Amino acid sequence: MNQSPHRLWVNASLFDGLNGAAEPMAVAVKEGRIAWLKPMSELSADDQSGFECIDAKGALMTPGLIDCHTHLVFGGNRAGEFEARLEGASYEEIARAGGGIISTVRATRAASEDELFERARPRLQALMADGVTTVEIKSGYGLDLKNELKMLRVARRLGRELPVRVVTTLLGAHALPPEYKDDADGYIRLVCEEMIPSAAAESLADAVDVFCENIAFSVEQCERVYAAAKAHGLAIKGHTEQLSNLGGSTSAARAGALSVDHIEYLDEDGVKALAEAGTVATLLPGAFFILRETKIPPIELLRRYQVPMALATDANPGTSPIFSLRLMLNMACTLFRLTPVEALRGVTAHGARALGLQAEVGCIAPGLQADFCLWDTNNPAELAYSVGLPRLVQRIVSGELA
Ligand code: NIG
Ligand code: FE
Repeated sequence: MNQSPHRLWVNASLFDGLNGAAEPMAVAVKEGRIAWLKPMSELSADDQSGFECIDAKGALMTPGLIDCHTHLVFGGNRAGEFEARLEGASYEEIARAGGGIISTVRATRAASEDELFERARPRLQALMADGVTTVEIKSGYGLDLKNELKMLRVARRLGRELPVRVVTTLLGAHALPPEYKDDADGYIRLVCEEMIPSAAAESLADAVDVFCENIAFSVEQCERVYAAAKAHGLAIKGHTEQLSNLGGSTSAARAGALSVDHIEYLDEDGVKALAEAGTVATLLPGAFFILRETKIPPIELLRRYQVPMALATDANPGTSPIFSLRLMLNMACTLFRLTPVEALRGVTAHGARALGLQAEVGCIAPGLQADFCLWDTNNPAELAYSVGLPRLVQRIVSGELA
């Protein structure tokens, strides 16, 4: 097997996932991991021996971006629903009328594994062109054993065939499928007793997610899903407080969730519960924007209680047909008033934490995977500031140009 060369990036303007460095830095990579970092002023000729040297010429270096919440494997599209909402229908009304998530379920069930893969690939490539090196992909449009596992297999295959790390999440408890109409508890049993054990046995899922909402599942039903997930060694996450405040975030945090996501309707008690449990708050400004939501997540409270905020695209055919994580940086700042550095932490260090991967990715620090990006600016704020201008110069995964 070819030994991957030792590489040394010099003259980088470093943002390490949490903070910017005060002076130009050198970053050394051995065997795909970050070996050491040094200010250029302390770099000796000896330090450089045995390395292939790459001059960053002052370019901004960040960790590879992490999109910690997507639903990018799906069949069909929901442009018609987009038009209906512009005419005044709400997301909730469309869902109650059998549209929304369920319409994507019909299209996803009808699609073959190969079709789903071919449709998902360009969506993932769009994220990669924005600097994404780790992406989470959820199931949730199959809603029966066969089709949930089919979606997860497509997600795993994307990770094998493209130079990006893929983390998968089973979202069986996303919506009630038509064949379980009036039997939500029966469906939750299917999720707990068949989907979770099968996904765990086949190593198809790294985590389990739920949609805790009036149009989806109750707090108590979600708690049953968390218990089953934990019994099978899987991490848990929740779509909570997106449309109303049911207390789903507090319940998920107490069950040990890695993250709770959306959280527009989260209150102070919920924020305290996240702080106590060490649960990450994942902000999804794309869904906020597309649904023309006006309730802003409790950013000031999250800051006050020092809850780490992650940021993701929520890429999906209904609430966020958006495949740009850099646009999320901009929206988090313009819509939620995050600072550009807070937003950048959300797609690096805090995004990693939302996936439980903080010991592997999300920061440029010794021992972590050498996943990083070079940008054609030296100012981190510029990544959030402009929209639509490609700025990525290099995307490095495990120390290799990808
Ligand atoms: O994150 N909130 C629930 N699930 C997705 C939307 C899925 C869909 O509408 O297809 C979300 O917004
Ligand atoms: Fe989502």
